[in-house]
Amino acid sequence: MRIGKLHIERPVILAPMEDVTDRSFRKICKRFGADVVYTEFISAEALRRGVEKSVQKMLFEDYERPAVIQIFGNSEEAMAEAAVIAASYAPDYLDINFGCPAKKVAGKGAGAALLREPEKMARIAASVVKAVSIPVTVKTRIGWDRESINILDIIPRLEDAGIGAIAVHGRTRSEMYKGTADWDWIARVKEHARIPVIANGDIWSARDALAMFNHTGADGIMIGRGSIGNPFIFKQVKELLQGGSVVTFPGFSDRIAVAIEHLRLSVECKGEKYGTLEMRRHYATYLKGLPKVSRVRDRLVRENNWQHVIEILRDYETDCERYAKEGKIREYAEYLNDHSKRLVLK
Ligand SMILES: Cc1cc2nc3c(=O)[nH]c(=O)nc-3n(C[C@H](O)[C@H](O)[C@H](O)COP(=O)(O)O)c2cc1C
Repeated sequence: MRIGKLHIERPVILAPMEDVTDRSFRKICKRFGADVVYTEFISAEALRRGVEKSVQKMLFEDYERPAVIQIFGNSEEAMAEAAVIAASYAPDYLDINFGCPAKKVAGKGAGAALLREPEKMARIAASVVKAVSIPVTVKTRIGWDRESINILDIIPRLEDAGIGAIAVHGRTRSEMYKGTADWDWIARVKEHARIPVIANGDIWSARDALAMFNHTGADGIMIGRGSIGNPFIFKQVKELLQGGSVVTFPGFSDRIAVAIEHLRLSVECKGEKYGTLEMRRHYATYLKGLPKVSRVRDRLVRENNWQHVIEILRDYETDCERYAKEGKIREYAEYLNDHSKRLVLK
């Protein structure tokens, strides 16, 4: 896949996710083999106003490259201005969010709302492309609802606007995260597009990743929820794509070790207070399916001292060793199966 100067064969990409793909999680996914990582989406209006929290979200380390900053907004002026600010942080490319279904975004005419205004969408895309000298890509959905799927009408408009690649989540806005992603539509997009297509939606395992490539013929794939608490998925996908079989099967020790690494990075990036607080949402997924996990989770999410959190996790690891001897630890395959039964979304 080529985007500007970037050339990666069959990239496996970490999807942008608000409150998830901060620097700490991106670094972990990178270490496990994610080829490209995206920031959380960042409001163009907030960048224009210099809101510190939004500015912080644009920071990344060279280690993460290729790294992409994603912005959203509802006007050509705001988006062009935000694009210039974002480009000054030197991401490898900029991405525009035309897919967010949330009320706080789509309700204000940004994100997926622009699927109902293809002309305006194209104008915003063109204004961003014109404002910066790095490549600009788009991430979107297949349409607003099942009755108005218009992705095939949108693609040529974005191509004419100078967009360098398009990531497509195979759902409509109305579907939010319900049902299963429609990979047939992504295959259709690939047939029609002249620019690279990145396929997204419901890749929960390495097998799903391979199936997505085969089903859609996409140039790259993008993994979101399947990586939460399970960054190992990037390594597994690589193993399957390169060697024909998966050899990484993380046990409880690996999962706990990565949770601790994630916490350390979170504290390093955000400081002790916020680094510890913001990790709370992640323990459940790292420990999912392990025995007697609810008790330990309750303690983890009440603990304010990150070193104590590490102690709790290490103690739990010792407990797990005992559970394993008693035959109470489930196989990773079972965990995965559970994991794919949808993570709870806001
Ligand atoms: C918690 C969460 C936050 C998300 N935030 C963003 C975002 O900031 N920008 C974006 O383009 N998509 C966002 N998404 C959508 C994902 O990037 C992705 O398109 C969607 O989850 C489908 O892929 P998946 O089935 O692999 O999760 C978010 C999804 C989740 C679950």
